[in-house]
Formats: sequence, structure tokens, C-alpha cells
Amino acid sequence: KQLVVPRDPSLPPEVFHWIPFVGSSIAYGDDPLKFFFECREKYGDVFTFTLLGRKVTVALGAKGNNFVLGGKSTAFSAEDAYTHLTTPVFGKDVVYDVPNEVFMEQKKFVKVGLSTENFRAYVGMFEQEVDNYMRSDQAFIIWQMDDINEWGRFDVTDVMAQITILTASRTLQGKEVRSGLDKSFSALYNDLDGGFTPLNFMFPNLPLESYRRRDKAHKKMSEYYTDIIRKRRESGHSDEPDMISALMDQKYRDGRPLRDHEIAHIMIALLMAGQHTSSASGSWTLLHLAQNVEVQEALYQEQVDHFGNPDGSFRPMTYEGFRQLPVLDSVIRETLRMHPPIHSIMRYCSFRCPSSRDSRCPSKDGVYVVPKGYYVLASAAVSQVDPLIWVNPTKWDPTRWSDPEGVAAQAFKTYSDENGEKIDYGFGAVSKGTESPYQPFGAGRHRCIGEQFAYLQLGTVISTIIRKVELRLEDGITEIPEHNYHTMITMPKKPRNVCYRRRRFD
Ligand code: HEM
Repeated sequence: KQLVVPRDPSLPPEVFHWIPFVGSSIAYGDDPLKFFFECREKYGDVFTFTLLGRKVTVALGAKGNNFVLGGKSTAFSAEDAYTHLTTPVFGKDVVYDVPNEVFMEQKKFVKVGLSTENFRAYVGMFEQEVDNYMRSDQAFIIWQMDDINEWGRFDVTDVMAQITILTASRTLQGKEVRSGLDKSFSALYNDLDGGFTPLNFMFPNLPLESYRRRDKAHKKMSEYYTDIIRKRRESGHSDEPDMISALMDQKYRDGRPLRDHEIAHIMIALLMAGQHTSSASGSWTLLHLAQNVEVQEALYQEQVDHFGNPDGSFRPMTYEGFRQLPVLDSVIRETLRMHPPIHSIMRYCSFRCPSSRDSRCPSKDGVYVVPKGYYVLASAAVSQVDPLIWVNPTKWDPTRWSDPEGVAAQAFKTYSDENGEKIDYGFGAVSKGTESPYQPFGAGRHRCIGEQFAYLQLGTVISTIIRKVELRLEDGITEIPEHNYHTMITMPKKPRNVCYRRRRFD
């Protein structure tokens, strides 16, 4: 007789697995979206799976997003979920190494550095960095070409990774980091980045060379930044339009200024937070543009209309001008819908709270309680391509955002009607709430503060490239690459080449 252990009906259903401890790690790690959609078919929106010994309760849909991200920080903790991954890389006394209320203060300090005034200065710097990069022989060889009809080819993620670090360091990170990029800083960054992988997330301490390199790189990078801060203070030059300057002026509520190592570690955290997210988003954008020549031409035309000179050259972009480009905006928005760089957001459930609002997972099977010691997981990557919510969810169609009567607007109307609720997402503002199905930048207290910077950076980079070159997929290739989920940030699988041809000589 088979022994059947009755399931506690207050617990979410468990995903069946053969091997204890390993559980569903391989299915989840290989293709989390496929795994989540398959589990939803079997178990509904809320289910628990085993990830290398951890119990992870997934809550899908917009309500699931709200459950995880709108939860009280005392019930669901980001620091307990992430600190073993982030503290060795970012360093002590910042982000998830401090109590949440301290990190919230640190986020406010960072917001000071992400000011409109700084953004105004950044647009020209972004443009200049991309221009210099395209003229250099690092990746684009186009400037050496004599024949305007000649096509070249580049690995889109390699190029975007370089452009992203060049533009971020020139602006937010400051001129010292930018000049260090040509020297020792890049190697340090690479070693640190090698310690920010799913392996590090799953196994905080392994006796591996990459872990040792990570620790060494962190120490050196921390010193690199504290050195910059000290020199700036000594020379009295701390009024650069960058984040280091902004942080040097900040004080905690109790009047204590940020210590040098805290500034250094926040700078490392920002470097890591913005690098792969932006370079992945830029890569997907260029791939989609290469595939959709019509949208690419509309984007080019938008640049001509707003910044074009009669002789075919362009005026420099401005922050104010940038904010009036609906095609560019919808191209980025739609790319982030289909390819949010972060597919899973996790929290650790610090206590069992049966009567709390937070513990009530909305599900067609009723209300579940997530026990202490479980992780909870939200996936905007699922709700952003959910066929129950979106019209043609797998079609990359930027017009769904630019037309108020378009498919995005219809999708949201249908969605709220189906649930019989009057949730006003507000067209164009759908990324705001914790219950929105569209959340590439997260939601709630841990929401991204780099969104505006990322939009400006990506927008300027993409526009500068599109002004100079036409893009196509390689001969015989009609589809863009699949997602590679084996990295922390969802990247395009190789090969991921884009062909380019110069639009004009200048
Ligand atoms: C948080 C996405 C760029 C800094 C987040 C979260 C997401 C996200 C989904 C929420 C994480 C969670 O709840 O656990 C993105 C995307 C980006 C991007 C898609 C680019 C396309 C940036 C940039 C910066 C940045 C450029 C820095 C300038 C942060 C910070 C947090 C955050 C400080 C807060 C983490 C917390 O409160 O726990 N980002 N991000 N991000 N991001 Fe971004």
C-alpha cells in the first residue's frame, strides 16, 4: 500500500520531484519561464518547489507580484535572501548587509545623485562615449571602410557590455573610474563580476579560485574608490556631476555623514546593479531593431525629425528633447516587457504570519500560508508575457505602448475586467504599482531607483547607434536568439550577431 502523507491544506501545493534536495533546480535553472508556465497548468498560480534544499513558493500573476513585492519587509526580507551573494561583492555596511531601514536611507542618498541636473549633463557624455567607441577599432571597424555598401558584423552583447561600462563610468561613476577603465579597473571589474553568478547565489562559500579572485578584487576596488574620495576631499574638488560627489554630501538621519567605505561600497553596488541589466536590455533592443526594419526606420526618422539638420547631420541630443521621443520610449518599454533582465525576485519569509494580510496568497484554490524559512518568488517575466493578460504576448510590438487605444491599453482593460476589479493602472504608468503585471524595474520598497538613468543611457546609446548605422540580422537568420538563463541576468544566447552598414560618412 502506498503511504500518502496528507498535505497541510494551508500550504501551497508542492511541485513533484524525484531527487530530494535537488528538487526542480535543473528545470528552473534551465528555463524558469517554461518551468513556471508548466507548473501553473498543474498547480495554479501559487506553488512551492525545491531549489537545492531551499523551499521556494512561487506566486504568479499580478496578484502574486503584489503578494511578494507589496509584502511587509518584516515578513519578507530581501536582505536574508540576497546578502550571501551581494555582501562579498558590494562590501560591508551597505545594501543587504545593513538593516532594511538603513538601506532605505542609502537609497535616498543615491536618489540625490540621480538628479535632473546631473541627467542634463549626462546626455552629451553618453553620446560622446558611443561616438568615440564607434570610431575606435575595438568593435566597430566601420570607420575604416571605404565602401558605404559594405556590411560588418558584431556580437551585440560584447559591444553593449563595453558601451554600458564606458557610459556609466563617464557619468555616474565619475571621471577617475572612466580613466581607470583603460587600465586596472576593468580587470578588477571582471574578477568581481566572476563572483556574481548563480553559483555564488546557490553556494555562498566554495573553495574555488573564482571566489578568491572575487574577494581580492572587492578589496582592491573598495580601496580604489576610497582613494578617489580621499583625493577629492584633499583637493577640495567634490562638486562633479556624479554619484561620488552626491554621496560625499549626505548624512544619515542621526547626523552622521556617510563613511568613505560606505560610499565606496554603494558605488560598487551601483556599478553591478546597472551593468548587466542595461547591457542586456540594449542587446535585446538592437536585436529586435535588426529584425524589424520598419521600426528601426521609424526610430531613425524620429531622430531626423527632432534633431536633424538640413545637411543630413544631427544636432546633439538634449535631456528635454529626449523626453519627447515616443518611438524610442515604446521600443525600450516593449523590449523590457519581453526581456526583463531579472526573471525572478526572491524574498525570505522571516516568520509565519497566518493572520497577516501578507501571508494570503491569492489563488484559485484559496488562501495559502507561507511558512517561516521558505523563500517567496515573484516573476514579472511571466506576468509580462502572460497570454491571459496580453494580446499577442510573444510579439515584439512597440506600438502597443504608443497608441492609447493600442494592444497594451486593451490588454489592461481586459485584465482588470476579468478580475472584476477596477484597478486603474493608468496608460503609460503601468510600471508603478506592486500589483501591476508590468514590472521590469520591480515594485514596492525594493523598486529600482536606476530606471530613469537606465532609460536615458539606453535611449541615448540606441539613438546614437541608429543615427550612424543600419542594422540587420545575419543572412538566413529570421528569429532573434533565445534567452540564456544560466547567468544572473537574462542574456541572449550565442550566436547573437547583428550586421551593420554605415548610413553616411562623417
Ligand atoms: C532594484 C531592474 C538598472 C540600481 C531593481 C529591481 C529590479 C531592477 C527588477 C528590484 C529587485 C528586487 O526587488 O529584488 C533593473 C533594470 C535595469 C536596472 C531592468 C536596466 C534596464 C539599474 C541601474 C541602477 C540600478 C542603472 C543604478 C544606477 C538599483 C537599486 C535597486 C534596484 C539601487 C534597489 C534594490 C533594493 O532596494 O533591494 N532593479 N535595474 N538599477 N536597482 Fe535596478
